[in-house]
Amino acid sequence: MIAIRQEKIRQERLADHDARELLLDRAYGPDRFTKCSQRLREDRLPAAGLSFVATDKGRIVGTVRLWNVSAGPGRAALLLGPLAVDPEYRSGGLGGRLMQQAIATARMRGHGAILLVGDAPYYGRFGFSADQTGMLWMPGSYRKDRLLGLELRAGALDGARGMIGATGRLAPKPDLGALVAAASHRAVKSPTPRAA
Ligand SMILES: CC(C)(COP(=O)(O)OP(=O)(O)OC[C@H]1O[C@@H](n2cnc3c(N)ncnc32)[C@H](O)[C@@H]1OP(=O)(O)O)[C@@H](O)C(=O)NCCC(=O)NCCS
Repeated sequence: MIAIRQEKIRQERLADHDARELLLDRAYGPDRFTKCSQRLREDRLPAAGLSFVATDKGRIVGTVRLWNVSAGPGRAALLLGPLAVDPEYRSGGLGGRLMQQAIATARMRGHGAILLVGDAPYYGRFGFSADQTGMLWMPGSYRKDRLLGLELRAGALDGARGMIGATGRLAPKPDLGALVAAASHRAVKSPTPRAA
């Protein structure tokens, strides 16, 4: 019998957090926190409506997000990443479907261009190239030929020049007072056993 996979792509939800983190650990390992793209994502929220997961029978098997950035002064763009597919689900077109969903939704929401740092042999099939990113810089170290761009609107990256910066909304910080109160409450409920 042939097993037919029926992965679905939907908007990411808060409850997807832990499964998505595990998937990213599996796909990228601990190095994922050292990537220069991460400098533009940390402490920020992803762009509105532009975080997707792929699921199979409710299990998270793919993820992609887009982030608000400036491509040099005064030029809005999106940064794509991370993109990951569970190793058991690769080479079946799921990565491509996640990319198409992300690109189509970004276009529909009126964004002009998408940037990413990644392998041109993979992202080239979706129209990404380094043709218009030569005068753009990411914070941190990366290979220049891996900084790729895709125009969703003709001319959106014309003359793009300068540092790429994070412009997304800041992620809410946990309320320290509430955390301390919760920790004290737990300590009172279950005091540390003391030696007699
Ligand atoms: C990259 C990734 C998301 C692709 O997911 P996927 O579901 O396998 O994607 P698709 O099925 O649409 O495409 C698979 C094809 O892309 C190719 N491919 C995958 N990664 C590639 C890469 N870095 N460079 C060139 N080609 C690549 C595969 O060999 C495969 O080729 P085939 O169709 O000739 O067999 C997945 O391999 C992954 O999660 N990798 C680990 C994380 C990662 O490296 N992400 C960023 C890539 S720069």
